Amino acid sequence: MKSQYIEPFKIKVVEPISQIGKNEREEVLKKAGYNLFNVPADKVMIDLLTDSGTSAMSDNQWAGLMMGDESYAGSRNFYHFEETIKDIFGYKHVIPTHQGRVAEHLLCSIVVKPGDYIPNNIHFDTTRANIEYAGAIGVNCVIDNAYEPDIKDNFKGNMDLNKLENLIKKVGTDKIPFCLLTITNNSGGGQPVSLQNIKDTKKLLDKYSIPLLFDACRFAENSYFIKTREEEYKNWPIKEIVKEIFKHGDGCTISAKKDGLVNIGGCLCLNDSDLARKITNLLILVEGFPTYGGLAGRDLEAIARGLREVLDENYLKFRINQIKYLGDLLEEAGVPFVKPTGGHAVYLDVKKFLPNIPQSQFPGQALVCELYAQAGIRGVEIGSLMFGHKDPTTGEDVYPELELLRLAIPRRVYTTAHIEYVAKSIIEVFNNRDNIKGLKIVYEANILRHFTARLEPI
Ligand code: F0G
Repeated sequence: MKSQYIEPFKIKVVEPISQIGKNEREEVLKKAGYNLFNVPADKVMIDLLTDSGTSAMSDNQWAGLMMGDESYAGSRNFYHFEETIKDIFGYKHVIPTHQGRVAEHLLCSIVVKPGDYIPNNIHFDTTRANIEYAGAIGVNCVIDNAYEPDIKDNFKGNMDLNKLENLIKKVGTDKIPFCLLTITNNSGGGQPVSLQNIKDTKKLLDKYSIPLLFDACRFAENSYFIKTREEEYKNWPIKEIVKEIFKHGDGCTISAKKDGLVNIGGCLCLNDSDLARKITNLLILVEGFPTYGGLAGRDLEAIARGLREVLDENYLKFRINQIKYLGDLLEEAGVPFVKPTGGHAVYLDVKKFLPNIPQSQFPGQALVCELYAQAGIRGVEIGSLMFGHKDPTTGEDVYPELELLRLAIPRRVYTTAHIEYVAKSIIEVFNNRDNIKGLKIVYEANILRHFTARLEPI
């Protein structure tokens, strides 16, 4: 067995997994309105809903919690947090927030005007929602290959520079206050962006004086892909690759709940001092004083330590290969998924998995429910329920190009045996897929509906 598949850690604390039967799970599903966000976590056996905030912290991080300085102003943990983030990402100002979407919200509240356009490779749902809440339009400019699940391109998160430049020419530079680049590209399969593409995107934006900001939640995973897939960087330490990436940006939003290896936290980094000051004033109004930003001192300490740990190449090698291992097992059995596997999740290609259920009947969500009912595994739909909407002019239903079921793997939580159980269960569901029926919505909110929607089988 190759060492990249061996967990590069020992288990010091354990948490029991609940094991309930299929009949009880079917009851739970019904009560939850066929929405896994409504299912209590202790009714789930393997929870792959998200890799966000679900990491296992190290002994070093837990020790850091005991060193929390809970002073309202000037906590020593903030200085450690700030110094670590400046060292890793290289930006002048570090604004702590309690999670990533607050960084997005603060940025959009101050910078974005109604009628603006914000390009990205693909906007994550909270990013898009924050942009739309500010009255602007989020535009996805990822390369076409991102929408081809079977094409094994190394960097399917790359920005399509023609799409980006066409947008700039069409709407004008004064309507684009900044451009985002999401690394790795979560909504497009957790696919990485190459350093060459980052440099080219920055060069193009510089031509039009548009700032580039990274949505940097999974920056370390993206860096590992650069190291292993982009020849020029194969001998670079991860830390140097990270520096090289962020050198080409003007700031970033970070949800530390991913590559920060913590359960809560985030920040906004900026070079623009005037902008940082305006945002900090708003931060005080909605999150807290600038040296804690909605977090406890101990949380800031755990983030500072997590951000260093995540740069460990042995950790990243295991992490990326654990996802790949799940993909390899599925590929052997002919289960369709987005290839190659991304950094934090396997995305089942539901259009191919359930070709007979139209997007109007939420096939991705139907598969999420089936996988839970059969095996106690909780995944999440990224498809017609999450992104489907009515066209504001024609009133017609619009569905996203990709219909995916994401199995996001929490960091340092599940072992190889868990991964094998997941693969076996999916293969079983795949072999019995003709029994799966579509769903209809019986309740939906008008923003981020997938979190609270209730559905029923058709
Ligand atoms: N950007 C990306 C690319 C994300 O994946 C997320 C969160 C956020 C921003 C927002 O960060 O949750 O700390 O406010 N993604 C989680 C997920 C929720 O399941 O993919 P947050």
